[in-house]
Amino acid sequence: AQPVIVAIDGPSGTGKSSTSKAVASQLGLSYLDTGAQYRAITWWMVNNGIDTDDPSAIAAAAGKPDIVSGTDPSNPTITVDGADVAAPIRTQEVTSKVSAVSAVAEVRARITELQRSIAATAEQGIVVEGRDIGTTVLPDADLKIFLTASPEARAARRSGELKGADVNATREALIKRDAADSTRKTSPLAKADDAVEVDTTELTLAQVIECVVTLVEEKR
Ligand code: C5P
Repeated sequence: AQPVIVAIDGPSGTGKSSTSKAVASQLGLSYLDTGAQYRAITWWMVNNGIDTDDPSAIAAAAGKPDIVSGTDPSNPTITVDGADVAAPIRTQEVTSKVSAVSAVAEVRARITELQRSIAATAEQGIVVEGRDIGTTVLPDADLKIFLTASPEARAARRSGELKGADVNATREALIKRDAADSTRKTSPLAKADDAVEVDTTELTLAQVIECVVTLVEEKR
């Protein structure tokens, strides 16, 4: 069979990662978390004293870190210059700075190129999750999904993941990050015209997974 390319985009807290990993596992496809790549480059900037409020400093450093993603959906890994950064890229500090770093065109160009080469070499195909996969990174994807959910549902899911985090604070931070991601100039978070929109507010994770698996099977 031809490799199948699936793009899954949407704001935070819609279940993108859980859905994408499960769909890839069930169908024997590779998996790429592009948010982890933007988090990894942000982590490197913070660790190397780059002022993340200075776009020109970010642009000048964008080519420096070596970011490698493992694409096994049962064990997705991410390293920067050989160091495992899976945990430190999830801190609040990185989360609060990632939108500013990922808005810089030089960062996007670099990461987009990485993403395309990873997708091109996935033998069975790949599920790629992010914000601009269907619109910019892989406009010829076989299937594009855009996941949405109410702000309340998204904040509740995120607070659940962060164990004990304040729901209101999580909701505010999430809304702020999505607004920044949606309004940036270069490749903002957006639904591709040919994407299938799935509102997950009233659905269980199992239902979302089943829905996406069915859509992929129809394309194969
Ligand atoms: O998916 P996750 O919440 O880990 O993504 C972290 C951040 O990375 C997003 O808020 C966004 O700023 C950036 N991102 C992006 N483009 C993508 C994926 C993530 O700009 N394709």
